[in-house]
Amino acid sequence: MKNLILVGFMGSGKSDAGRQAATRLGMKFVDMDKLIEQREGRKVSQIFETDGEKYFRARERTLSQEISGWQDHVVATGGGVVLNPENIRDFSRTGVVICCWVDARVAFERTKHTRHRPWWEDTADRLAQIQKLLREREPLYKAIPNQVDTTAMNLAQQTDEIVRIYKQQAG
Ligand code: S3P
Repeated sequence: MKNLILVGFMGSGKSDAGRQAATRLGMKFVDMDKLIEQREGRKVSQIFETDGEKYFRARERTLSQEISGWQDHVVATGGGVVLNPENIRDFSRTGVVICCWVDARVAFERTKHTRHRPWWEDTADRLAQIQKLLREREPLYKAIPNQVDTTAMNLAQQTDEIVRIYKQQAG
């Protein structure tokens, strides 16, 4: 089966909905950040801190190319994977790419208790930071043809919609 690739901002539910969609579809689930962490033997925040964003994006790029050669996987990408359009182009060749959209305020609410995200480690005003990043990336997310606006959805609704689009497109 074609891969199902979930793209979207932090807090858009890629990992939770992706895991559930994989169970429903009988596919394997992989979280790109977790896989990078396993291979590097350190957390994403440590990678950013020690080697910088450029290094992380290069690891993300290599893994995107690798995943594009796979089948039967549901993949939760990191929120910044859209920054390199080649990642999306490669994913689209062998998979169905779905963007999970979320408004800044809801992204903030869903993620305010997590501490592992490098963007926020030294940011007092997380909401403003989220608004700024989302505004910058909005054209990249919105350019993806398959969209699920998760802002007012619960996890079950989001999973249903992802599975519906996948079945329609993978056909
Ligand atoms: C990032 C999002 C994170 C992770 C890294 C950078 C981003 O993934 O890849 O911290 O640039 O938006 P999540 O979207 O899973 O939090």
